[in-house]
Amino acid sequence: MTTFKKDIFGGAIIAVPGRGLKGEMTVPGDKSISHRAVMLGSIASGITEVTGFLEGEDNLSTIGAFRAMGIGIDLQKDSRRVVIRGNGMRGLTEPADVIDAGNSGTTTRLITGLLSAQPFFSVITGDASLRKRPMKRVVEPLSLMGASISGRNNGNNLPLAISGRKLKGITCKTPIASAQLKSALMLAGIYAEGETVIEEPEKSRDHTERMLCLFGADVRTDKNSVSVRSTNELIGCKIEVPGDISSAAFFVVGAMISPASALLIRGVGVNLTRTGIIDVLRKMGGTVEVQNERVASGEPVADLLVKTSRLKGTEVSGAELLPAIDEFPIICVAAAFSEGTTRITGARELRVKESDRIAAMSEALSRVGVRNAELPDGIVIEGVGSASIKGGKIESHGDHRIAMSLAMAALRSDEGVEIDGASSVDVSFPGFFDQLKRVRVS
Ligand code: S3P
Repeated sequence: MTTFKKDIFGGAIIAVPGRGLKGEMTVPGDKSISHRAVMLGSIASGITEVTGFLEGEDNLSTIGAFRAMGIGIDLQKDSRRVVIRGNGMRGLTEPADVIDAGNSGTTTRLITGLLSAQPFFSVITGDASLRKRPMKRVVEPLSLMGASISGRNNGNNLPLAISGRKLKGITCKTPIASAQLKSALMLAGIYAEGETVIEEPEKSRDHTERMLCLFGADVRTDKNSVSVRSTNELIGCKIEVPGDISSAAFFVVGAMISPASALLIRGVGVNLTRTGIIDVLRKMGGTVEVQNERVASGEPVADLLVKTSRLKGTEVSGAELLPAIDEFPIICVAAAFSEGTTRITGARELRVKESDRIAAMSEALSRVGVRNAELPDGIVIEGVGSASIKGGKIESHGDHRIAMSLAMAALRSDEGVEIDGASSVDVSFPGFFDQLKRVRVS
């Protein structure tokens, strides 16, 4: 085994092999829920107090956007507690400058819905990755509601310029299941005249629905559809954010693929629209127990106990992937350490995430010695069974989830994995490498 001059845990970018993940840990707060808490708290009346908040870069972009619209938001660094002094449904003010959403698709798409209904002009932009991502999916249906939005490439790319208008409710069958799209329409819908009905081909994550109910909005759900009505007032409340299952997923797979693991991850959100990773890993033969289930702020929460597992290859369809949409990179790593072949299809959306995750994972796996073939809508991976991989140098493409997935692959490598662009982990999981160092058996 190669010895490294410096390893990742000293702040460099080399993830090292390990002999298991052991002990207990928690993961940072759920990214999706943290965004929504700031957004709804800002347009509610009175104080909203959020605990367990994720202080990741994406969520700080959301805080920055609402501060720019006149909302008082207190965040003491490393406290995971945010206090928002909401100004009510009509209390946002015109931002004096362009809103910078950084790397955050959720900030951009959800806020575009909200801004469409405000009585002022605003412009939203983001980093190079975000400026490439498709916005037409929200711009088109919002325009049908009466929104006035223009942007590069016929309104498909940031920067978007939004002139707020009086909106009217619509009934919309969305061509894709996307919580960002659904939520953008809901946030416009609570300002629109009449009812806004959104029907998805499959049910995407439902955190907006749940949280709007907590704040007192009139929201109805039925299978894959949701409807909202014009709302006069949301009432500020207390929100306890659970740990993010999408962050826990890296450690769940890391524990399964390394030799002598027993890891308890406490306080993880287990909303059924997010637990696809547990179902996929169980189908592959993974051992994960969901313990101590409870409910906090309208969201189910539990502890996850994970043990070393002999994984076998499987087929994963688009419907199975939807509740694990952000877990594609770490599912690829689980597949790499399985017996046999894994085929993931119906994952075309993954091409327009923070990076083209199909291409990025195919390239990264090839670099560390895992045979795979890219499909237009997925990937086929030949697992190494009980062997280890060689390791090597990979490019994260500035994508946090690619970086964290390959850090886990390094646990069962001969040479470790050098990750280019590893600081991207701060987007969703500040302290990721410290946590890994703490539970990794060396
Ligand atoms: C999110 C929805 C998903 C997910 C993203 C967060 C949300 O995106 O991939 O990380 O908070 O609504 P899509 O709606 O584009 O599938």
